[in-house]
Amino acid sequence: MSETPKASRRASAVQPFMVMDMMREAGRLERAGDNIIHMEVGQPSGGPPRKVIEAAQSALATERLGYVEALGLLALRERIAEHYMQAYSIKVLVERIVVTTGSSAAFVIAFLAAFDAGDTVGLANPGYPAYRNILKAVNLKITDIQTSEKNRWAPTPADIANAGRLDGLLIASPANPTGTMLSPEALAQLIKASEQRNIQFISDEIYHELTFAQPQSTALSTSDKAIIINSFSKYYCMTGWRVGWMIVPDHLVRAVECLSQNMYISTPAISQHAAIAAFDATDELDERRAVYAENREFLLNALPDAGIDRFTPVDGAFYIYADVSRYTNDSADFTSRMLKQAGVATTTGLDFDSYEGNHHIRLSFAGSRAEMEEAVKRIKAWL
Ligand SMILES: Cc1ncc(COP(=O)(O)O)c(C=O)c1O
Repeated sequence: MSETPKASRRASAVQPFMVMDMMREAGRLERAGDNIIHMEVGQPSGGPPRKVIEAAQSALATERLGYVEALGLLALRERIAEHYMQAYSIKVLVERIVVTTGSSAAFVIAFLAAFDAGDTVGLANPGYPAYRNILKAVNLKITDIQTSEKNRWAPTPADIANAGRLDGLLIASPANPTGTMLSPEALAQLIKASEQRNIQFISDEIYHELTFAQPQSTALSTSDKAIIINSFSKYYCMTGWRVGWMIVPDHLVRAVECLSQNMYISTPAISQHAAIAAFDATDELDERRAVYAENREFLLNALPDAGIDRFTPVDGAFYIYADVSRYTNDSADFTSRMLKQAGVATTTGLDFDSYEGNHHIRLSFAGSRAEMEEAVKRIKAWL
């Protein structure tokens, strides 16, 4: 009898993305008739703005929608450049802008373009799980930088100096799961400290425009060597359209282009046409942001009354990262029971922090106000 073909060691090292497992389980319960409030996935409940849908309909009617050049549709890249001028007063050359299949594909391409197998990338802990899982999948090493609430859950220049050899550093501000942000000065200092040590700085700016308590700043305003990653998934409400972008330093443009050509050929054309219109939909998108801001206020006041009263400051994004250690030492079991018994889907902190995440859960407030109110009622009754 022949042996079973192997799975790669690389694949075996990759952990599940627990929030996606939770979403699958919540979907299974819904199909069986349960009513579930979704606070697990960081996804706007409203769908894309009207102008995006209209642009997609028009593209369906008038465009060929075939492959497009690997760096992206020129009209979209030009519109992204205009966005940097409007939002940050920064001139970015279109040549440095790369459209990607969501920011998720941007990570794969950026890691492969900037690092060699065996290089080490520093990550803030807690942090977004796919960073570490993609890094492992492409044979890169990870240095966890344990962060603290005092530093708004971000590494400091001193942490970088003490981290040992690093080839790269990846930071998100606003961050997932904590929702905390670095001040513009703190971000600039971190970038400078990294570049003095020849560390490739990667800035995940996917939660830009979703800020409530701090000014946002892009790494581009400090460095033209940093890799900037962004997406239409969050503020622009286009999660399922799989379209994001990168700004890459000059010396990586060609490598990124070759990798993109070979790995993805191009980002879905219809999504690219639609994304151009997203930049003109700010009225509608700002209304959505106002809902998140109200949800945030509501939850910060109502959750303590429901029994969840220890969380990190919520500067941006749409997450509350709550310490539930007074109830459990096993937040995976806690979220699983909350789903089945209370009908509220949240995410275990273990997805973001394998050391102390057993004490935390993440709640997304990207849903409607009515959903937030119902969730608090259910959590209060359940606890
Ligand atoms: C911090 C962060 N970066 C990147 C992503 C990936 O988003 P997408 O691939 O939809 O652009 C997410 C999704 O939740 C995220 O939270």
